[in-house]
Amino acid sequence: MFGRDHIEYKTADQVRLMRSAGLVVADVHAAVRAAVVAGVTTAELDAVAAEALRAAGATSSFLGYEGYPATICVSVNDEVIHGIPGDRVLRPGDVVSVDAGAVVDGWHGDAAFSVVLPGAVGVVADPADTALVETTERAMWAGIAALAGASRLDVVGAAVEDVAEGGPEGPYGIVEEYVGHGIGTRMHEDPDVPNYRTRGRGPRVRPGLCVAIEPMLTRGDASTQLCEDEWTVVTDDGSRAAHCEHTVAVLEDGLWVLTAPDGGAAALAPFGVRVAPLS
Ligand code: MF3
Ligand code: CO
Repeated sequence: MFGRDHIEYKTADQVRLMRSAGLVVADVHAAVRAAVVAGVTTAELDAVAAEALRAAGATSSFLGYEGYPATICVSVNDEVIHGIPGDRVLRPGDVVSVDAGAVVDGWHGDAAFSVVLPGAVGVVADPADTALVETTERAMWAGIAALAGASRLDVVGAAVEDVAEGGPEGPYGIVEEYVGHGIGTRMHEDPDVPNYRTRGRGPRVRPGLCVAIEPMLTRGDASTQLCEDEWTVVTDDGSRAAHCEHTVAVLEDGLWVLTAPDGGAAALAPFGVRVAPLS
């Protein structure tokens, strides 16, 4: 890679504004988590998210972004990311990934979670899907933890890769065609945040860096295809995929996971990483 990233490092006041957007994203997640059960349509989840945003006085980062037609993305089973909500009815045992972004006072927050819907009579949820989702979440937190005390950004991808390729049920495919990103007054800013080891050391990590870290793992091959709707990204081999994402700020004294209600404290404690929320 030649061509230099132009990173907008944020001031403490700007990070506080991003925290407001991040907390709205957390509200949206909570509302959609409560609603994601077998029998609902993905459009119904979109409506739940739209209502949560409205109630918070926020708007969707996604709706209208390059023509994207919905409030959130809901990606099911072999869909990796950017699934457009519609009349699809969720079924027991489905792997469902929900991605939501909020804008508050012009500042963005962006986060995603995946779940496996419980089985039902005659349908068992596949334990391998549960392991996929757990590993994706663990890979995300390992990537976030790696940012703490890092001088260069490459450590994030290395940490994600180690979790995705280690692990009892792995190795999992790591999607490379889509990456995490800087975030601020735009949903996508420099730098890219790959989920794999890179040759270079990556851009400098210093206070004010705000990035969305978002591993996408598959149970099979990592290569993907774009569907005819020109949004939905599916695995080539039909294997199931999961996606987890948080927006994270690097501060003088540590990290602050802006889209986690507790700032990331609980999930980062096992890594010995201190979160440093601003007041
Ligand atoms: N969280 C996704 C991302 O970081 C959401 C983009 S969906 C879009 O790219 F519709 F807005 F493009
Ligand atoms: Co993102």
